[in-house]
Amino acid sequence: MALGGETAPPFARPGGAAVTSPSSLDQELEKAARIIHASAYAIALVGAGISVESGVPPFRGPGGLWTRHGEPPMDGYQRFLADPRAWWADILSRQGEHSEFIKALSEAKPNAAHRAMADLEKLGFLKHIITQNIDNLHQEAGSVAITEIHGNRLKLRCIACNARWPLGEFPTDEIPPRCPHCGGIVKTDTVMFGEPIPLDALESCQRESRLCDCMLLVGTSAVVYPAAEFPVIAFRRGAKLIEINPMETPLSDVSAAVLRAPAGEVMPKLVERLKGLSGAGAG
Ligand code: APR
Repeated sequence: MALGGETAPPFARPGGAAVTSPSSLDQELEKAARIIHASAYAIALVGAGISVESGVPPFRGPGGLWTRHGEPPMDGYQRFLADPRAWWADILSRQGEHSEFIKALSEAKPNAAHRAMADLEKLGFLKHIITQNIDNLHQEAGSVAITEIHGNRLKLRCIACNARWPLGEFPTDEIPPRCPHCGGIVKTDTVMFGEPIPLDALESCQRESRLCDCMLLVGTSAVVYPAAEFPVIAFRRGAKLIEINPMETPLSDVSAAVLRAPAGEVMPKLVERLKGLSGAGAG
């Protein structure tokens, strides 16, 4: 299954009209904390929105890269495969030239939402993070159990055996670089449009989505597949969805709690609520 265009999940309401207006943020916070506190295996699906407060623009919605510049061509991977040597020659020749996105990524630091997710993991409430982001900010915030469905900007990967290496620890004097294990072509780990999601990452995401009884949807528009499939898998297995997003998404009206606020503002409050519940032994 390749990284592709946008499609709304099967239970989206036409026109995105809200079904229920979330009660006050305070009440939704309490509801969310109690759901997570009662859950045995809560995970999170994370998107570009979590890194907006770290200065990384989202793709869609207000200020989105695609909103401002249009969506990129969907055949990036096919063009890579057509001539991987030329592709590598091009990116090595343009080293030091940074697009707005790459510049923002290279300067970004984890924000309060990334740190709160690391705290939730340390407290034992969050078992896994599926991130669509390539920015490495979860790791920098201290999170450990992470699947990067779209890869990591600081890594290289063999397209044949999925072996990965930190950027800078793999020689690129011969291009295209070849995998020492299987001879496969090595490229950046980030998944290009049209590129199949690496099987190890996809299987990890599907496994976690089947295991969870609660899924936090943090800063994702939930329209890009295959990532948008995971809340559907979880929901259909009875998991409770908790949406953390200042804007409505196709999953808003099937979420058990909706925190309509920036993640950096609301995630630390969620951690405090959970600490309170644990401290009080309530739940
Ligand atoms: N806190 C939480 N959510 C936010 C914030 C914030 N501070 N700011 C914006 N958002 C929300 C937006 O309302 C939107 O719903 O984050 C979401 C970002 O959506 P997208 O830009 O579509 O990002 P994402 O869902 O991660 O896109 C999926 O599409 O283009 C591909 O590969 C790219 O991984 C990306 C995938």
